[in-house]
Amino acid sequence: MSDQLIIFDTTLRDGEQSPGASMTKDEKLRIARQLERLRVDVIEAGFAASSNGDFEAVQLVANNIKDSTVCSLSRANDRDISRAAEALKGAPRSRIHTFIATSELHMEKKLRMTRDQVFEQAKQAVRFARNLVGDVEFSPEDGYRSDVDFLCRVIEAVIAEGATTINVPDTVGYAVPELYGNFIKTLRERVPNSDKAIWSVHCHNDLGMAVANSLAGVKIGGARQIECTINGLGERAGNCSLEEVVMAVKTRRDYFGLGLNIDTQHIVAASRMVSQTTGFVVQPNKAVVGANAFAHASGIHQDGVLKARDTYEIMRAEDVGWSANKIVLGKLSGRNAFKQRLQDLGIQLQSEAEANTAFAKFKELADRKSEIFDEDILALVSDESVTHEKEQYAFVSLSQHSETGERPQATVVFTANGEEVKSVSDGNGPVDASLKAIEAHVKSGAEMVLYSVNAISGSTESQGEVTVRLQNSGRVVNGVGADPDIIVASAKAYLSALNKLHSTADRVAAQG
Ligand code: KIV
Ligand code: ZN
Repeated sequence: MSDQLIIFDTTLRDGEQSPGASMTKDEKLRIARQLERLRVDVIEAGFAASSNGDFEAVQLVANNIKDSTVCSLSRANDRDISRAAEALKGAPRSRIHTFIATSELHMEKKLRMTRDQVFEQAKQAVRFARNLVGDVEFSPEDGYRSDVDFLCRVIEAVIAEGATTINVPDTVGYAVPELYGNFIKTLRERVPNSDKAIWSVHCHNDLGMAVANSLAGVKIGGARQIECTINGLGERAGNCSLEEVVMAVKTRRDYFGLGLNIDTQHIVAASRMVSQTTGFVVQPNKAVVGANAFAHASGIHQDGVLKARDTYEIMRAEDVGWSANKIVLGKLSGRNAFKQRLQDLGIQLQSEAEANTAFAKFKELADRKSEIFDEDILALVSDESVTHEKEQYAFVSLSQHSETGERPQATVVFTANGEEVKSVSDGNGPVDASLKAIEAHVKSGAEMVLYSVNAISGSTESQGEVTVRLQNSGRVVNGVGADPDIIVASAKAYLSALNKLHSTADRVAAQG
């Protein structure tokens, strides 16, 4: 058995299924580039058949990523598989990941199919996919709650059809480590041709055990691929977190005895990028990437760390990229320094026009804020006015008046399909007035389910980063906006959420 562990990142697919985490194709490409720098083995870029937008995103990632395998999810039918293969054409290494549910509950209630029908469809899907690409992964959805005899039968058949990776999802996060590890072990022992495929684990975090279950699948079960996401992003309580599982295998190499290709120094930058793009803030006490993960507050701990670091630290902060958190640029920095920093952060702007707008925005920001941090640069290049994505709404300017004892008033100027609009409203506070002014014109009817403000770099001089989550007709989207003026940041976030509501309208939901 190999002593190398494959890291399969599904931030752009399963992570994106998290309510509100939908990403534009340029955002996906930026994250994919960071995953490539991290030396992730496989990047699941999306679910090509779910919408035209997803197809284009998978295609863009496939055309630009050279060092990691690019993968698309597809249901077990010819149309989905053909769409995935088409989107992946430009990738030097591509994988089709096809799935069908195998638990009694899912087959009977969701698919309304018999065991024999599912068995035949799984075989047929893998056969069809193998005619299109050499690397095919099969997942029996809700595998952990499936009947073990039936599962063995399906897995044996799909390996015989050419599946190169067998992934066993704990789709609903029901497993506990010892049982899940033994489940994988049993499958590997009972499936006669199990040695012809790489075994993979895919665990959801509903009971907070996704990382522990994945590691048990590796240690007890003998799996050699872990499916995971940056910051543990994903459906409901999320997926196995990449940073935790990678650092566990690396820090406890004495126990796991496995090698990894991951360049861990890019972990913190990847975490920040995903958090800033989706608006999902990382909790301070989150392992590895939380702001307090390496902070020692108690005097006894501080004293110990100063005397000998390993008294209280099992990993080095710089090994996961914390030292990259420094003041990088100021108002005297020129175009070359800015370009270099973008390059160091793994950001490639798509055109000269984007680079010029980004530099102009940087100068504007540096005039208002003496220290520019990496987080500021990431927020700046995520701004829709820099990426020039074809968006329905774009922020232009805002003025507001608020005074103790008076009802605040705001006037917001923005473009709607290229036409400039000026809209006015009052509200409970200046933020409320500004968002009401936008809504008065747009009339989206969307319900706001979350509004949060976060200081990007800690001080009052910092940019405020605002996340707005909107819900409309069953769709949930997050919009993110950043500006030293939090009212402006709020208006940008609201417009960005409206743009996303518009762009995700045609997406088919992925199961799992
Ligand atoms: O959780 C799940 O079952 C999935 C599959 C589609 C792999 O995400
Ligand atoms: Zn999943």
